[in-house]
Amino acid sequence: MEFKDKVVLVTGSAQGIGKTAAIAFAREGGIVVLNDVNKELLNETEREVEKIGAKCLSVVANTAVLSEVEGMFNRVVEQFGRLDVLVNNAGITRNGFIHKMTEQQWRQVIDVNLTGVFFCLQSAAKIMRNAGRGRIINISSAARFGNMGQVNYSASKAGVVGLTRTAARELASKNVLVNAISPGPINTEMLQAVPEKALQKILAPIPLNRVGEPEELCNLILFLASEKASYITGQVINCDGGWFMA
Ligand SMILES: NC(=O)c1ccc[n+]([C@@H]2O[C@H](COP(=O)([O-])OP(=O)(O)OC[C@H]3O[C@@H](n4cnc5c(N)ncnc54)[C@H](O)[C@@H]3O)[C@@H](O)[C@H]2O)c1
Repeated sequence: MEFKDKVVLVTGSAQGIGKTAAIAFAREGGIVVLNDVNKELLNETEREVEKIGAKCLSVVANTAVLSEVEGMFNRVVEQFGRLDVLVNNAGITRNGFIHKMTEQQWRQVIDVNLTGVFFCLQSAAKIMRNAGRGRIINISSAARFGNMGQVNYSASKAGVVGLTRTAARELASKNVLVNAISPGPINTEMLQAVPEKALQKILAPIPLNRVGEPEELCNLILFLASEKASYITGQVINCDGGWFMA
């Protein structure tokens, strides 16, 4: 029970990686704060978390809207009086080649994947600085290195790296550790939108030559949130089947 009575907020936890992470924290005794814009799926996740016997709070909030983010973190403090872990997971794609990308596609992705991550990190940092402890895990992507048809997504995920390193430096003296994970292709709804031919192209340069399962990524999320990772901050850890090697 690694996270017994620890309060863990996972954004975008109605499905995919966020849902898997929330369930994994719940199994380890965590008090889980679920967040998403999709109320229906969020309710389903809440039921699954409650089945495990974990305490849980669900907040429908758009992470790209500051007032909604601040309202969510205020509720967490009112209800539980603490926040131990933030997993900044909510993310979207709106793919298109540069010459065809609309202003809306660009702004939506930057708003959710970068500005939303900042808003949540900022709210969490205020709570964690005062507490003198905390863990923030931001989900970047292998697309941060550049990816055809994803100029908006790639820019947002590279931005998450700069944000992570700056936050790690600023918050280290307060014992708040901030890291990012850079996943390769992970088997979720987001990946199911990728056509089979395109997926084969993605897999070709990956040494393990397969997609990852959400559970495999969540093992790393839980490790970074745990006491075992107490000397790790400001890192961007690839979880991508060996796709990118430092
Ligand atoms: N699946 C992959 O291959 C992959 C690879 C690299 C990085 N990632 C990143 O991992 C994270 C999770 O991805 P996933 O595959 O589970 O995606 P997903 O689409 O299955 O789930 C994302 C969840 O975030 C929610 N969400 C979207 N916008 C939101 C907002 N503004 N506020 C709150 N919730 C919002 C969605 O409703 C959804 O439930 C994302 O940041 C994604 O960019 C995924």
